[in-house]
Amino acid sequence: STQQLQQPEFAAQARAAGHAALAAGEVAFVLTAGGQGSRLGFEHPKGLFPVGPVSGRSLFQVMLDHCRARAEKAGAPIPVYIMTSPQTDEETRAFLNRHHWFGYEPNDIRIFCQGVMPAVGLVTGQVLMSSRHEIFTNPDGHGGALQALQTSGALTDMQRRGVRQVFYGQIDNPLLQICDPVLIGCHRLQKSEMTTQAIRKRDPLQKVGNVVSVDGQVRIIEYSDLPESAARLVDAAGFPVLWAGSIAVHVFDLDFLIRQAESQVSLPFHRAVKKIPCVDSRGILSEPDENNGVKFERFIFDLLPAAKNAIVCEVDAANGFAAVKNAPGAATETPEWVQAAMSSQFRRWIEAAGSSVANGVVVEISPLLALDAEELAEKLPRNTHFDEDVFLEFISPESHS
Ligand code: UTP
Repeated sequence: STQQLQQPEFAAQARAAGHAALAAGEVAFVLTAGGQGSRLGFEHPKGLFPVGPVSGRSLFQVMLDHCRARAEKAGAPIPVYIMTSPQTDEETRAFLNRHHWFGYEPNDIRIFCQGVMPAVGLVTGQVLMSSRHEIFTNPDGHGGALQALQTSGALTDMQRRGVRQVFYGQIDNPLLQICDPVLIGCHRLQKSEMTTQAIRKRDPLQKVGNVVSVDGQVRIIEYSDLPESAARLVDAAGFPVLWAGSIAVHVFDLDFLIRQAESQVSLPFHRAVKKIPCVDSRGILSEPDENNGVKFERFIFDLLPAAKNAIVCEVDAANGFAAVKNAPGAATETPEWVQAAMSSQFRRWIEAAGSSVANGVVVEISPLLALDAEELAEKLPRNTHFDEDVFLEFISPESHS
């Protein structure tokens, strides 16, 4: 589909098919916001992180504003299902309640909590304890979404609403093009059961899943499961073989998710070797300096081999992926790095609309004003110049005349 998307006719057909799906109210949005955010070191759920480069809006607000704008444009609701973990559930509910769901229709949002897994000692293989009477557990990975969607009744709720496609995304990527009509349209036109979005990796060792084809079947191999030598492979022309990176954006057929959730063949577990605080045989809690345990996680993309007609669509990372992963000070994927990516995207939209932004000025655009460059160009008068930081939420129609 990367090849086909370059044909303007196919892209236009896909866009129209996606708009039709959204206008019929047949698309739901699943947002995973569990996990532990251990690398970021923020002491609240990641969704509360104030990511807006000018507005300071939280990741949750960025996502919900975007989804609301998409639903308003479609003229039909997009039900949102937010996955929390036992660690993030209570605080997430309280935060969203306190902010009145950021204007999202409360009947169109459900929160469901993922499961957990025990961990074992790296050398001993024994279950690790967080206290003398309590087993240590960690969230069961984003793949836990499948089971949690089923047991929470979310899949049944989607069926009742007439949903046919489920758009999946993760909370830490504010550039996420939520319920992108082109992606949904590609999925429908190709009669795919699972469609995944990929970027060209910045460097061979970028910490993303690798989108590959194995015996003609699309699969994703997580960076942590791939030997460095394989990640660095180049072809005869010196071009990286594993160039396609997963950004954890997928479209599923609801029927496919239901079939998989009911099947006996569950998603496999992946090992992650980590430092895990736990108690020793004397009951004394210690913080290890070295990796001492193995965590087990499921990955949602392991559904790919089971899907009929799985396809991959490429997106330019600059317009679709900048994830908040690392604490300030790291080289990439820090809050500052993500904010710069957001501001550059908005600057490009403004410039494409025939306006300009002074050097060093930070700009942010509310999705409720414009979801893309084309929409901004309809609303922003040409030759507008921004010479101070601005969060654009509203442009009065009079300013057009
Ligand atoms: P990551 O693997 O980057 O994990 O998951 P994380 O928890 O955000 O951060 P680290 O690795 O501990 O530093 C990417 C996204 O997948 C979701 C989270 O929303 C996270 O933003 N996720 C991950 C879950 O919802 N549950 C999980 O068990 C794991």
